Amino acid sequence: MAELSHRALRELIESFGGCDEYFTEMISAGALFGGGSFEKWYLDAGPCPERTVYQLVSADAEQLARAVVLLDGRECAGIDINMGCSAPLIRKTGAGVAWMADIDRAGQLIARLRPLTRRRLSVKLRTGFNDDFDYLLRFCRRLEAEGLDLVTLHPRRASEKFKRRARWDYVESLKQELSIPVAGNGDIDSAEALVEKARPQGSLCDAVMLGRAAVQRPWIFAHAQALAAPSISSSPRPGIFRRDSESERRFPSGTFRLPNLEETALRFLELLARHQPPEFHISRARRFFGFFCKNFKWGTWLANSLNREESLLGMEEVLRKYCRENEEN
Ligand SMILES: Cc1cc2nc3c(=O)[nH]c(=O)nc-3n(C[C@H](O)[C@H](O)[C@H](O)COP(=O)(O)O)c2cc1C
Repeated sequence: MAELSHRALRELIESFGGCDEYFTEMISAGALFGGGSFEKWYLDAGPCPERTVYQLVSADAEQLARAVVLLDGRECAGIDINMGCSAPLIRKTGAGVAWMADIDRAGQLIARLRPLTRRRLSVKLRTGFNDDFDYLLRFCRRLEAEGLDLVTLHPRRASEKFKRRARWDYVESLKQELSIPVAGNGDIDSAEALVEKARPQGSLCDAVMLGRAAVQRPWIFAHAQALAAPSISSSPRPGIFRRDSESERRFPSGTFRLPNLEETALRFLELLARHQPPEFHISRARRFFGFFCKNFKWGTWLANSLNREESLLGMEEVLRKYCRENEEN
């Protein structure tokens, strides 16, 4: 997620036990070759590059091809092309969800990229421009035929914001029709909902992706793992909730205690200072706290107060003062 799913957030989530895979924020393919000073930060797939997918955004097949070659040479879990972003600035350039307007154009792109990488090649999609499942299916089948490895579907139309609920029946139907794995995304807002969507029985989809909830509650994967532990240990199906020695180490089973909010917020500020360039500190901190502050009783007030600060130190002081005066956990 733009300005959110950078290394500092991954480090924070890892400190609670981590999750199976991370997606970077969308990286402009063109900017990777512009000689700018921020590329190294966008390319930092730490702390677990082997579980991190690079996501690229561009309207330009040539730029995307060059970027895929570059990323293929870096350790990562895969390369994803953003065909779902509906932000007007992205869409009007022909990138993001604009790719979904033309099946041939998107198919030719995947045909072009496929031979350039041995990494898992995926796309992130919306349902399209209206509720037309047949079109979505034709679109995905074409990409599948061109060698795509995975689709993540955020089942909302191109121009929909978050008001209307994500339509998970589209995820389920797509999963039934495609041979490649389908991941679902949208509106999973609690550990219980994550367990429900990712349940081994039912095979709603092959994987689930979380956006906003992973920022608001970076411990959500550990919480879900603790909730699911009894049933998954006997599940024969590998996948969303793996139970092997690695996951045992990352998610010790047992009851889950809500982490201390102040400590978590302060740890995030430290991680931000360590893993992002100074030019990004304030914008990234504001983005994060816009979600994280929902955990606090007076969250809107706190987020507004943090927004007024111009330094990480100032934000730290505001957080400490708020927590001193409002002992919430
Ligand atoms: C601030 C923000 C930035 C986002 N940036 C991206 C992005 O860079 N790439 C992407 O594929 N989706 C992006 N998304 C969409 C999310 O990945 C996700 O599809 C959407 O929020 C629905 O999932 P959720 O209900 O779990 O949040 C962004 C969403 C938000 C709120």
